[in-house]
Amino acid sequence: MHTPESKEKTSYSILIIDDEETVRKVCKFVLIKAGHVVHSAESGFQGLEILRSNSKIDIVITDLKMPNMDGQTVLREVKRDWPHIEVLMMTGYATIEYAIEAMKAGAADFILKPLSTDQIRVAINKCIDKINLNHEIEELRHTNKKLMELKDIKEKFLAITSHELRTPIGHIKGYFNILNDDFINEMSQEEIAECKNIINNAIFDLEELVNSMFDVVRFRQKEIELNIEDVKPAELLQQIKSAFRLALEERHLSLEIDNYSNGLVLTADRLKLKAMLTELIKNAIKFTNDEGQITVQITTVDNQCHIIVKDTGIGIPHSEQGKIFEPFYEVQHSDYHSSGETSFKGGGLGIGLTQVKEIVKAHGGEIKVESSVGEGSVFAVAIPIEFKGDAM
Ligand SMILES: Nc1ncnc2c1ncn2[C@@H]1O[C@H](COP(=O)(O)OP(=O)(O)OP(=O)(O)O)[C@@H](O)[C@H]1O
Ligand SMILES: [Mg+2]
Repeated sequence: MHTPESKEKTSYSILIIDDEETVRKVCKFVLIKAGHVVHSAESGFQGLEILRSNSKIDIVITDLKMPNMDGQTVLREVKRDWPHIEVLMMTGYATIEYAIEAMKAGAADFILKPLSTDQIRVAINKCIDKINLNHEIEELRHTNKKLMELKDIKEKFLAITSHELRTPIGHIKGYFNILNDDFINEMSQEEIAECKNIINNAIFDLEELVNSMFDVVRFRQKEIELNIEDVKPAELLQQIKSAFRLALEERHLSLEIDNYSNGLVLTADRLKLKAMLTELIKNAIKFTNDEGQITVQITTVDNQCHIIVKDTGIGIPHSEQGKIFEPFYEVQHSDYHSSGETSFKGGGLGIGLTQVKEIVKAHGGEIKVESSVGEGSVFAVAIPIEFKGDAM
């Protein structure tokens, strides 16, 4: 589990703190011979000064008994400000109980004076083993966290997709049975055509679902390729508004576009930008009760275009606001989805915002959300007016 860096690392940066010059010299000699980089300080204060100006130190060897600042204080300060640094204590027999105390306070080991070169070597190697072990534990912790996240995503994926797939599959099965039943002889041509139409729509929905799942996987596996061209965001928003006209009328929702951008032209990927804005507006429609209001504002701030999508909908609890951009994350339980992607709390896979974030990122921009439960949500996108390329 070593990282390539920790595997290759044979030379460590070591700081010796001791008021006795001979001790510093002996340690330095042994450690430089072993291939390490050595710094030395004649007091605790000087040692801490070196630590403050050198972020690369891995190990501190400090004498326990020193005038002004003793080894225990050095240990406490090091463990507080640089907890990753291992500390070795040096002490005479008379103060061995202090050394044991120091070990309890986080020292890696102690060396008894008078020093022998072997003792220094063995203690330093033990420290290095401990550093490597800590790295491994850190990596394992990181991998474990990632695995837990993946497990979480997998469970959500299964719950949501199985729920979303069930509706179209149910339609196909049900209406196919009707068409296969003797009962068909009593049906009019219009009724038969309607059944076929419902089956067709269900197949279309299934295809869309499967394509969306692929999109998410593809989006996450490789960089998004952008086809950069001149884009007028206000025009895109008018097109999106027209596309949602029926849904807005059906749900008695108002969608207002406040364009303060003065004919702004962006360099961006037109289709992806449109998909991103469509998703934000579709969410606003889905999560706003009938008769609610949606406002989209475009402004320019310095060399950035700000697009703000605001709704008077159900809002998002504060604790969920960081999670909604994760794939397959939905605040509401998928069992309570109503069908139809623009109906109130309509179904979805929980991937729209994941894609929105990827698109914004690919353009070198950022997205933020502010929301209060029962009051509404504000999604604010900021993207550079001039695309500088290679933003991912
Ligand atoms: N405007 C909004 N108001 C309230 N909640 C929202 C809003 N936008 C998103 N959410 C919450 O964030 C979740 C994730 O949004 P996202 O767009 O990723 O998924 P979805 O809309 O449920 O499904 P999909 O976009 O895949 O069709 C939503 O399920 C919803 O709980
Ligand atoms: Mg969505």
